[in-house]
Amino acid sequence: MAHKDFLDISSLQREEIISLLDQAVPFKDLFTRSVKKVPALKGKTVLMLFYEPSTRTLSSFEVAAKRLSADVTIFDVPHSSVTKGESVRDTIDTLQAMRADYIVVRHRLSGQPAAIARQTGASVINAGDGAHAHPTQALLDAFTFREKFPEMEGRRVLIMGDILHSRVARSTSTIFEKLGVEVAFCGPGSLVPQTRFPRFTNYEEAMKWKPDVVYLLRVQKERQTASFFPSDREYHQTYGVTDERLKQIAGEGIYVMHPGPINRGVELCDAVLDYDRCLISQQVENGIAARMSVLYGLKSKKS
Ligand code: CP
Repeated sequence: MAHKDFLDISSLQREEIISLLDQAVPFKDLFTRSVKKVPALKGKTVLMLFYEPSTRTLSSFEVAAKRLSADVTIFDVPHSSVTKGESVRDTIDTLQAMRADYIVVRHRLSGQPAAIARQTGASVINAGDGAHAHPTQALLDAFTFREKFPEMEGRRVLIMGDILHSRVARSTSTIFEKLGVEVAFCGPGSLVPQTRFPRFTNYEEAMKWKPDVVYLLRVQKERQTASFFPSDREYHQTYGVTDERLKQIAGEGIYVMHPGPINRGVELCDAVLDYDRCLISQQVENGIAARMSVLYGLKSKKS
């Protein structure tokens, strides 16, 4: 991959995406071995700079970097001088003196990882910026999808929920489109913008589109500036995978994906987690292999 940074999916060629997916396969095979490490990034330093909370992405990058034998430092933003008003630019200048090879950034502002990438010689990886992009989530989603549908071309993914505020929807729809997978959006009219993709505001109509995967999104209340639907209960009844809808999904053999964190009783009922075609755990596992592939791919430019 001829890139210093990994900032979004839009700037990647289809061939580069396929190469990253292919490269992730042997990394996943490594997980079943008793020694799960390779020396690929020995001597390299990975700095994690998360200005927003994270469970999956932060821990997944940490595990991925350690399995590549890199040294990992997690910059503790809530206990740092950021709380005293230090700017991102000054923080990066300070951290640059520590000569990190990679900086993995999550920030509430769209474009902040790109700004950091312009400031530093380190490889910057976007771990989610505002409602803009979450490219490693997209890569792990495509990897998980490809395990079930190796041909990908012509398959269908229905992305359901709060599209408007979702960086996952933007990056994941883009990667699927580049790989020839058909994408449609469904959700409350107020949360589904007009885009190049088919748009549904009625669950039953959307299911008639015959998706192979229903990709559920969390309603991102922390990014909403207004109330977009009356209540969680009403959302669940109108757009959530209820026990009744799960029966239909199971009957048609449709897979369910979700980037996490999940809101039980809102976008899905508890039973979805026990459904044999629910891929949420596989997505988490595959996230490590996908992120190893990204770290490894960027490394080749630097060394
Ligand atoms: N999917 C995802 O980005 O989860 P986290 O916010 O826990 O990292």
